[in-house]
Amino acid sequence: MPAKTVYIETVGCQMNVLDSELVIAALKKDGYTLTDSPADADVILFNTCSVRELAEEKTYSAVGRVLQHKRRDPAKVVGVIGCMAQKDQEKVRHRVPLVDMVVGTGQLAKIPELVRVVQETRQPQYALSLGRKDASRHEVEASFESYDPARDPQMRPTPFQAFVRVQIGCDKFCTYCVVPSTRGPEQSRHPDHIVQEVRTLVGQGCKEVTLIGQTVNSYVFDHGDGRRTRLSDLISRMHDVAGLERIKFVTNFPKDMTNDLLDAVRELSKVVKYLHVPVQSGCDDVLKRMKLLYTVGEYREMLHRCRERVPGVAVSSDFIVGFCGETDESFRKTMELVAEAKFKNSFIFKYSERSGTKAAERYPDDVPEETKKRRNNELLAVQNANSLADHRQWIGKSVSVLVEGRSKREQRSHHEADHVPQLTGRTMTDHIAVFDAPERLTGRTVTVDVEDASGFTLYGRVRTEELVGVTGEAELPIQRPRRVSLDLV
Ligand code: 5AD
Repeated sequence: MPAKTVYIETVGCQMNVLDSELVIAALKKDGYTLTDSPADADVILFNTCSVRELAEEKTYSAVGRVLQHKRRDPAKVVGVIGCMAQKDQEKVRHRVPLVDMVVGTGQLAKIPELVRVVQETRQPQYALSLGRKDASRHEVEASFESYDPARDPQMRPTPFQAFVRVQIGCDKFCTYCVVPSTRGPEQSRHPDHIVQEVRTLVGQGCKEVTLIGQTVNSYVFDHGDGRRTRLSDLISRMHDVAGLERIKFVTNFPKDMTNDLLDAVRELSKVVKYLHVPVQSGCDDVLKRMKLLYTVGEYREMLHRCRERVPGVAVSSDFIVGFCGETDESFRKTMELVAEAKFKNSFIFKYSERSGTKAAERYPDDVPEETKKRRNNELLAVQNANSLADHRQWIGKSVSVLVEGRSKREQRSHHEADHVPQLTGRTMTDHIAVFDAPERLTGRTVTVDVEDASGFTLYGRVRTEELVGVTGEAELPIQRPRRVSLDLV
């Protein structure tokens, strides 16, 4: 019998990337192999994002495109999984009746079984968690299972880097955001399980872990006997794992940026000196309507504290422009904050109204699309100037880079066998660096002398001593999942 195959498209945040890795690992145990071609696949999955309308529309078009294969071969199983599945539920099938499976973020462990049920019964299958108001907190929590089974190094962009979930869900209820309903109540995983997972990953050759949570710095595990493990405690425990080289964590909530965490970032040599702490707006009125629980003044104070406690730390942010009631004056304040805050980079989004959120209930989406677009561009221009200045300060310095592989430019072109490729990797402050070097350096940490910089990239040269003494060929390329990446959370 020919091997059974699965095709997956993933959009959205790191959580989704990790979820896809785990779903595929589970299906592989059932005898599936990954394919790049939906036409040949027995199972076609879309791991979805609901954070902005555009992400959902793109997914619906992508699903529409593969339906031709399903019509030709009705035995194929088409699944819509993740955030949009949890949010839209049966609406997914109202819109696309040929979809066989709708599986929410808290039910992904059921996928192998559901695939079998669909194949046997040809009946559509739903697996969804409870809504936040449908039952007691405990019952809702129990309906969102943390999904962290066996890891599969072949499913990651590189085998030496991995995401590790420390927390699921979110309790912040920012008024614009769907995540508290698509990913359920905030729950921190047991630190022993997390550290064990990191050990397993390091045993598989992993060198860098990125701890993920919607507001990762609110991580706290209550042991029930008066002991609590905070994120700072967790990363100090992890720091002792021999063979692990780097620890990162994303994304942070400004109000939870405590000094114990900043001290850990400074003191622990494996912790990347980079903090992504989204502010969203530079205007107090807007922050209040977003229900962000801090003022711009408090954010500025936090930023100052980050830089004071962790000298040299790189900070990045997210912004939403055109939120309900954002005036020219509110936007001017955001421009001022971006100009002065000197973020390494910022992710800027136009407000997208999401049904089911408090903002959609309470406030009209009253900033015209044209204005959103203009504000987006204006803010980006200020950020880009700062990003350039930030990157250029590295010229003449040397940086430590964990080499991830060929750069994007390199992947696009074909070369002679003896060509020295352009490789890429990240520094200890999360800056992207590119340099020409043999591919066998992939997965190693090298010293790069920075010679030039754009607003996004450091250009450099690998120290010559790094080029000698490494023997053996780079690993053969292994099949990686196809991934459509939107902006990250
Ligand atoms: N519209 C636009 N951007 C949003 N984000 C979250 N919800 C929305 C929305 N409704 C942005 C925030 C968040 C990032 C992941 O996405 O900036 O930090």
